[in-house]
Amino acid sequence: MSESGKWQGQRILVTGASADSAIGLSICRELADLGAALVLLGRRRDALEQTRDTIAHPERHTVEVMDLAELDAIPARIKAIAAETALNGLVHSASFQGYSPLSRINAEQFDRYFHVNVAAPLMLAKGLRQKGVSAAGASMVLIGSVAGLRGQKARSLYAASKAALVSLTQSLALELADKPIRVNCLAPAVVQGPKADEQFQLLAEAQRQALLQAHPLGLVRPLDIAKACAFLLGPDSAWITGATLPVDGGYLAG
Ligand SMILES: NC(=O)c1ccc[n+]([C@@H]2O[C@H](COP(=O)([O-])OP(=O)(O)OC[C@H]3O[C@@H](n4cnc5c(N)ncnc54)[C@H](OP(=O)(O)O)[C@@H]3O)[C@@H](O)[C@H]2O)c1
Repeated sequence: MSESGKWQGQRILVTGASADSAIGLSICRELADLGAALVLLGRRRDALEQTRDTIAHPERHTVEVMDLAELDAIPARIKAIAAETALNGLVHSASFQGYSPLSRINAEQFDRYFHVNVAAPLMLAKGLRQKGVSAAGASMVLIGSVAGLRGQKARSLYAASKAALVSLTQSLALELADKPIRVNCLAPAVVQGPKADEQFQLLAEAQRQALLQAHPLGLVRPLDIAKACAFLLGPDSAWITGATLPVDGGYLAG
């Protein structure tokens, strides 16, 4: 991928940018290849610095260590990040993932899923709408999941949080249209990488085969998400807002 003029100087904040997130890393790699300057946000400095040092033009990118569960701190932090240069885009890829069979659900678990997966992007949007924080034509991309569009056994909390993200995308798109800030959501199915490996280890052989067969084109590649994310962030999608785009290898077609 070569740098493109339309990405030069574009400043994009990516949450969940740690090097051990296959999706976060791939999004950062793609945007850096295009020429963007990134703000890499997560809780572990070393994992963020690893991303910065792996992608193109490390000197253009900055690292922001923050726990997004500290919801009330988010808008002020976003304002501070944008104090010198406004943001052209924001990707919320950080999430709390896992299985939550009914037998194990409790209030603390509910908070863990909904704080990072739903309330944090809401507060990020609140941060972005402040005066001087977003550049003209800014775009926000929320990473959801097909679990938000189709039920998944033993994943009710994760699925409900990602379904809430679909709804949040629509309402935020309406509320931020006059800025104008666009808001869209990507809904991946199972993506190749450490999280998928963990998931497959929990399953019996028959379940593994069924999950593989549920992806007619095969498991999603991290680059598929990164390309779709760049499309939704960039000017080629200028008239798309409030949409949820599955990137799922045909998972939802079946
Ligand atoms: N992997 C898949 O198959 C798949 C499928 C569908 C959708 N998705 C979605 O795609 C996105 C990326 O998934 P992933 O599996 O690559 O990564 P992930 O492990 O779900 O999360 C990415 C990063 O988010 C950061 N994070 C978590 N809680 C945080 C908090 N409270 N504050 C700040 N950062 C926090 C973590 O980094 P730190 O520990 O450094 O903070 C983590 O490495 C997620 O939204 C996920 O739901 C993934």
